Amino acid sequence: MESIKGKFITFDQNETSRQLDLGLEALIPAGRFITFEGGEGTGKSTQLNLLSEWLKQKHINNITTKEPGGTEIGSELRRLLVTGDKNKMDAVAEVLLYYADRRIHLTNKVWPALKKGTWVLSDRFADSTVAYQYYGYDKRIPFETLKDMYTIAVGNFKPDLTVILDIDPKIGLQRSFAKAVGMTVKETRFESRELDFHHKMRQGFLEIAAREPERCVVLNADKSIEALHQDIIGLVAERFGLNK
Ligand code: TMP
Repeated sequence: MESIKGKFITFDQNETSRQLDLGLEALIPAGRFITFEGGEGTGKSTQLNLLSEWLKQKHINNITTKEPGGTEIGSELRRLLVTGDKNKMDAVAEVLLYYADRRIHLTNKVWPALKKGTWVLSDRFADSTVAYQYYGYDKRIPFETLKDMYTIAVGNFKPDLTVILDIDPKIGLQRSFAKAVGMTVKETRFESRELDFHHKMRQGFLEIAAREPERCVVLNADKSIEALHQDIIGLVAERFGLNK
């Protein structure tokens, strides 16, 4: 890889070489991209679906999706990433796989939908990589490396709004393990990490929000589904000028 120029990344000096869309074209998408982030058991997917229904009532076309696993290839990556022994791969391998999933998710699903004017609600996005693979693992991967990964896979595209659902990891993990009881394939690879990992990751989300207050809003998720839904629609209505 030689250079990043303009809106493309070029893989060799020859101008006829293959160029990849870095997502800079998607800077002015017609739809809105809203991401939900947070630790385990915060109720992200429930809230995402409730928001989707609420937006539909407002006649706003939207799709819900997730990372990892928002595409066909992504589902295979998800199985590798979230099941099995917690030590089966290290943070570097995880970052590479999460970014592979993210790139496929953006190019095959998110950007095409946004370009058509459809709003996209995603259960997790790049902040999860920073919170889990950087903060969770004691910042062993250089932050600059993660930023470079972001540029390669995502360009300077970013969510219009990121809702970070915050909860004490002890409560979140209890909820998450209770949910896993009914699953045939247990998606508990990260849940099985020690509590300290989850505290660091939670702190990571709070630091991300502090660094980017215009994009990220932290909401207390330790409340009823309906109360949290009201907080979320209040936020979305205000942010995008919709009637509540
Ligand atoms: P969940 O969204 O159903 O909780 O499952 C996804 C799991 O993958 C969750 O434990 C968080 C983890 N994850 C990362 O560690 N890094 C990432 O970049 C993403 C998107 C998820």
